[in-house]
Amino acid sequence: MRIGVDYYPEHWEKKRWKTDMDMMHQAGIGVVRIGEFDWSLYESKEDVYHFEWMDEILDFLHTNNMTVVFGTPSATPPKWMTDKYGDAIYQADINGNSKIFGTRKHYCFNSDVYREKVRKLTEKIAERYAGHPAIEGWQIDNELGWADTVRCYCDKCEKKFREFLKDKYGTIDKLNETYGTVFWSQTYNSFDEVIIPRAGACYDCCHDTQGQNPSLLLDYDRFCSESVISFMNEQVDIIRKHSDRPITTNMLDAAVNSGTGIDYFKMSKTLDFVTWDNYIEFQWGKAKDETVSRDHALLRSYKHQPFWVMEQQSGPCGWSKMGPTPTPGKLRLWTYQAVANGSDTVVYFRWRACPFGTEEYWHGILGHDGRPNRRFEEISKVGEEMKRLSQTYGPLQPKAKAAILKSFDSEWSHEIHKHVEGFHYDSLLLDYYRAFYRMGIPVEFAAPEEDLTAYSLVLAPALLMVNKEQKENLENYAKNGGNLLISFRSGVKTMENTFLTETIPGDFGKMAGIEIHDFDPLLEKETKVSGVFGTGTAKLWCDIISPVTAKEAGRYIEDFYMDKPCMTVNAYGNGRVYYLGCDLDEKAMENLMKYLCSQSDIPVGSYAIEGVECVPATDGANEALFLMNHNAHSVIVPVEKEYTEMITGEKVKGTVSLGAYDVAVLK
Ligand code: GAL
Repeated sequence: MRIGVDYYPEHWEKKRWKTDMDMMHQAGIGVVRIGEFDWSLYESKEDVYHFEWMDEILDFLHTNNMTVVFGTPSATPPKWMTDKYGDAIYQADINGNSKIFGTRKHYCFNSDVYREKVRKLTEKIAERYAGHPAIEGWQIDNELGWADTVRCYCDKCEKKFREFLKDKYGTIDKLNETYGTVFWSQTYNSFDEVIIPRAGACYDCCHDTQGQNPSLLLDYDRFCSESVISFMNEQVDIIRKHSDRPITTNMLDAAVNSGTGIDYFKMSKTLDFVTWDNYIEFQWGKAKDETVSRDHALLRSYKHQPFWVMEQQSGPCGWSKMGPTPTPGKLRLWTYQAVANGSDTVVYFRWRACPFGTEEYWHGILGHDGRPNRRFEEISKVGEEMKRLSQTYGPLQPKAKAAILKSFDSEWSHEIHKHVEGFHYDSLLLDYYRAFYRMGIPVEFAAPEEDLTAYSLVLAPALLMVNKEQKENLENYAKNGGNLLISFRSGVKTMENTFLTETIPGDFGKMAGIEIHDFDPLLEKETKVSGVFGTGTAKLWCDIISPVTAKEAGRYIEDFYMDKPCMTVNAYGNGRVYYLGCDLDEKAMENLMKYLCSQSDIPVGSYAIEGVECVPATDGANEALFLMNHNAHSVIVPVEKEYTEMITGEKVKGTVSLGAYDVAVLK
């Protein structure tokens, strides 16, 4: 476990560099990420290359015992390039308007010209630096995933999308049949006629894509995701030819990614490790601690191995306005939260606030003056503690026996047509995660086709669509003794985003041992429920369940479906399949997860303290229990055994006292 910084030596006079090195070492920082926006320095004019400046930086860092994650600069094409190639490179927005020079990420992932340029520069960089002793890893591009940059609506994408569909469907008749283009007279005569879902193709003046053919929309989301992945993989392949150092990219949090982003499970396949950028309190709002914990859990789940935070907030930040300065203790707390949840390296963004450019407000550890400050003191303490903890522990991972299934296909489909006002797949998954978070029970995320045998409990909230492989995987999991919970809006659609004509829950009817002949999407009303979760309230959706072989586990206690089941359990092979036909409020959800854990041999502690995150983790040989106080006040946390607190070395028994934003690591 260690810390690093995002460093931009090219923004500063060389005479300052040595001071930076001395201060970084003083703070326990041994790794820096550099170079991800530097294209115009490498290639000042077309085919006019300069590398001496980077040679000097790398040599300097190496001489000063720093290792480097080397960013490829494809997020920022230089001005001469966009001037010369214009629309051959630019993205277009949903209205079809071309993006222009001035910010970053304005290039189209399907631009042949841009890809060629990127390949050429990446090859030169990889060739030149692969053997450099400072380099410990590579980062491709920067933050592949922003919704408005993943989905492009330019003519280049239109052309490539048609090729993508031709590959997928073979004939236009097959596409017409699959999409149901007979509806509203949308039948295509050739692939050249197929549209991309630009704004003007909406039914009315809506601000999103409502009114489009849902199969086309889902295919477009997949196409955009695959375009980015293939753009990234071209760089991965080039770097691999020259370097044996691990390759990553820095991902975004789930909330940003929701609905229109990249399938990060697929993207992770060619990466050696995954990383993400964690901004918690900034101009655009504050993330809740459970949401950040969930994001860490997602990251460790993409490859089920330790991940990095490649950009961890380290100061007050924002672009046009700033968010609050991290209260004393928070930088340390956020670092521990990452480590407890499976991150082995936390890199702070950025070393020092930059006095110019779009991000002149975005503070790093140091302010514009570059002098030691409160944040530097706090990070230095963390650096020291991480070194000490690393003498005992290798990379730690939470010990999860439960998994929540996450499907990007389902997520995108739910974003396309939300089923009911207020419904978000991502928020529903967070409802499940939050229940575990509150109980201090680790939970992973998993893709529906993954091997699930490591989990004694698997939750499939609103898993709208599954392919044959995924369906069989879930059936086998339950048959072989697993405990599976499926919720409302699961298994009802085809992978092409059309409805199955089987009785709900379609693909899962047999396993769940139920049929659903009626349901109630809730608009401006709530419905009370009662069952193994105590009493609770549904606010989104109520499936009125008719058990076939299943037994009732919960029921509605009001409305016209009073006394009808809202939850069931069915014996299936050696396992059990639960079906939850509604959403639940926080308390009932927590009760339900407690009940399901107890049915699945997952130990449940007595109670949790509000705002205290509790994560049991292991490095395979040693156990660590992290206690993290997200409250602005002190707390006393009961503990069951006698432990050594690994930061202070003190013995603790019975209770642990934590100050505001304080942490303890118990062994
Ligand atoms: C991230 C990005 C960084 C920097 C930072 C602050 O999203 O990766 O390059 O821009 O935000 O805005």
